[in-house]
Amino acid sequence: MSSIESVLTETRIFAPRDAFRQAATVSGIEGYEALCNAAEQDYAGFWADLARQEIDWQTPFTEILDESNAPFYRWFADGRLNASYNCLDRHLATHAEKIALIFEADDRTVTNITYRKLHQRVCRFANALKTQGIGLGDRVIIYLPMGIEAIVAMQACARIGAIHSVVFGGFSAKSLHERIVDVGARLVITADAGMRGGKAVTLKTAVDEALNQGGCEAVEKVIVYQRTGIDITWNKDRDLWWHEIEAAESDTCEPVWVDAEHPLFILYTSGSTGTPKGVQHSTGGYLLGAIMSMKWVFDHQDSDIFWCTADVGWITGHSYVAYGPLAIGSTQVVFEGIPTYPDAGRFWQMIERHKVSIFYTAPTAIRSLIKLGGDLPTQYDLSSLRLLGTVGEPINPEAWMWYHTVVGQERCPIADTWWQTETGAHMIAPLPGAIDLKPGSCTRPLPGIIMDIVEENGTPIEGTGGGLLVVKKPWPSMIRNIWNNPERFKKSYFPEELKGLYLAGDSAHRDSDGYFWIMGRIDDVLNVSGHRLGTMEIESALVANPLVAEAAIVGRPHDIKGESIVAYVVLKGARPEGESAKAIAAQLRDWVGKEIGPIAKPDEIRFGENLPKTRSGKIMRRLLRSLAKGEEITSDISTLDNPAILEQLKQSAS
Ligand code: PRX
Repeated sequence: MSSIESVLTETRIFAPRDAFRQAATVSGIEGYEALCNAAEQDYAGFWADLARQEIDWQTPFTEILDESNAPFYRWFADGRLNASYNCLDRHLATHAEKIALIFEADDRTVTNITYRKLHQRVCRFANALKTQGIGLGDRVIIYLPMGIEAIVAMQACARIGAIHSVVFGGFSAKSLHERIVDVGARLVITADAGMRGGKAVTLKTAVDEALNQGGCEAVEKVIVYQRTGIDITWNKDRDLWWHEIEAAESDTCEPVWVDAEHPLFILYTSGSTGTPKGVQHSTGGYLLGAIMSMKWVFDHQDSDIFWCTADVGWITGHSYVAYGPLAIGSTQVVFEGIPTYPDAGRFWQMIERHKVSIFYTAPTAIRSLIKLGGDLPTQYDLSSLRLLGTVGEPINPEAWMWYHTVVGQERCPIADTWWQTETGAHMIAPLPGAIDLKPGSCTRPLPGIIMDIVEENGTPIEGTGGGLLVVKKPWPSMIRNIWNNPERFKKSYFPEELKGLYLAGDSAHRDSDGYFWIMGRIDDVLNVSGHRLGTMEIESALVANPLVAEAAIVGRPHDIKGESIVAYVVLKGARPEGESAKAIAAQLRDWVGKEIGPIAKPDEIRFGENLPKTRSGKIMRRLLRSLAKGEEITSDISTLDNPAILEQLKQSAS
């Protein structure tokens, strides 16, 4: 929706500035088109050449794309490599002393770590993992705050062929438990707590709670990084201090060479139904996607200081913190804290302090910072910036223009990057030295990424009409499977009606210049502050509360978060009113916080004696969405079994 408004409200086009274009990795529209043509002429050959050029293989591949068991595609399958070797070892000969990570803690303390030092830390920790009996194919849960250790833990797993599954620190013990069980983890790596906005946020307590719930018998050990020194409960048969177990280890560790298709990681994300899905990524293809997008979309050069503000608990933090920047030998900023602490100038101050040249964040953060201090950036020296990026949700033209003029000082192109947990890397995004920008559009697909817009039966939509966003050909960094659930993988992403096309789950339209405009999800997935949440997950959490008989969740457009969560709840007892409704709403909100995590707490709860249903018992969500927006219901409600309920559901309890 916001994209349609974008077309209406901002029609200016921003061409790459000459100086930028001339120095860019891919220069001018001819450069972009040449790459696209090369991919069109020899699709497999195009990706194979890049894979040979950009990745160091221990055993070169001879097979490129294996489609024999589609949609379980395989790329470079007989090649062997190691992701950690590609992110660390291969840089040591030429730039061991280059800074890999500039870590700024919540309290502004800065720790710089070179490639040599990071390599040593990863090796030492990888050896410690081996001493604990962790090896090829074992699953390791990482539940850590943002920081050097999170990256070390991920890289160390990759080094020994263990498969990591990072769980965002904001998820509850219950969510953590679900993931530990589903992935069959043997080890959990956590910290006593993380620091956010001057406060310690406990993590180890959630691990204890998760492991006490049963079903996690495969977890033999818990490694605890001491970040804050707060008191924690200690299980001496199970818990190990990070600093103690690595102290005696050597700082060299031979990488374990794995097949290109060996899973590098599993990352859980929400779908429209059921529990979160364990998105399984490969090693070779994934790494290639991360590398190419760093070069093409971020136009990354040796002298750049790169900063992606995402937490490693999300895919953005995997591809553009833990793997992509290291694989190309970048110097990157890693940030522990939050954008509003100690004040809303924190991002701008950090850009000035570390001379950040490429800055990548979410529209939500931009919108909230505009609100808190639209002219704050002008108090800082942002002249180091040369490129800006956004991710996670559509960016509205107002926010785009502010980002462009106030932060980018009209000098920096903005890369609006469309992609997903499942795609592994950017899919539609401008190559900034080649493509003219239109605020609100993620522009055109990357070279070698073949996208289309189709009707529900898979027929391509000609012209500029809206439809389902699909990918027409398998690409190297694509999802390989849903962990333990190949049937769900096929059903979710390759439904029969689409005859082999990858279904992204978004709707979009394409303008007459071939630019893509994302319109939003087509399923029951919400995008709240750039975080993906399934309505059914929140409904299940609510229904698990002993007071609740039934619940329905809908999204409502929100100025800052993009979407906010509105819950309609039917209690087992009488419908509460007044103070009692307020109190129960507060209680239910906390409940959801504990069941899933604070990000899933409904912004508003409305109580009804029932929900609007058709005679066959189907909840009419369309009506609930309209009610949430405060719209008058003018549409046909003749199929509604209980029209009187609508009046009741207009009222908010909270
Ligand atoms: O709806 C799209 C939206 O975020 C979804 C993917 O969410 P997730 O897997 O959590 O990954 C987020 C970070 C890559 C997409 O299906 N989305 C992502 N980027 C954009 C976007 N919507 C519009 N514009 C974007 N640039």
